[in-house]
Amino acid sequence: MTLFSRSNIIVSCGLFLFLFALSACGTTPAGNSENGQKWYNMNNCNACHGEKGSGGRGPNIAGIEMGFGSFVKKLRKKDAPIMPPFPESKISEQDAADIYVFLKSGK
Ligand code: HEC
Repeated sequence: MTLFSRSNIIVSCGLFLFLFALSACGTTPAGNSENGQKWYNMNNCNACHGEKGSGGRGPNIAGIEMGFGSFVKKLRKKDAPIMPPFPESKISEQDAADIYVFLKSGK
């Protein structure tokens, strides 16, 4: 079998596309809504944003529309007027993804 046989080329193209798709999706890690609800309540998000993100002292964030990147930025931000910052040590990237999925699922 030569290195550039037709099947080899097809296989490497497939692999390339697969890796490409993987890296494109990699910006939003898969989250678990049930865990998300736990982290949401544990971190007192519910005290300001309501039971399911429906709002209260903080804005309504149920069914959140912003992208995951912006969401994480909001969490980590230190200069918000009311909302406290949640650094990586409090809410990991994975926990943030869980909360994100939880919020997305509720309206
Ligand atoms: C002490 C009250 C308080 C707590 C606790 C709190 N927030 Fe907030 N949050 C706010 C307020 C008020 C705003 C809007 C203004 C600001 O940033 O201070 C906000 C803004 C946001 C936004 C941006 C909304 C938008 O449409 O721009 C998101 C997303 C968010 N909070 C998520 C969370 C999550 C997730 C938690 C828990 C980890 C949390 N918040 C905890 C009060 C709070």
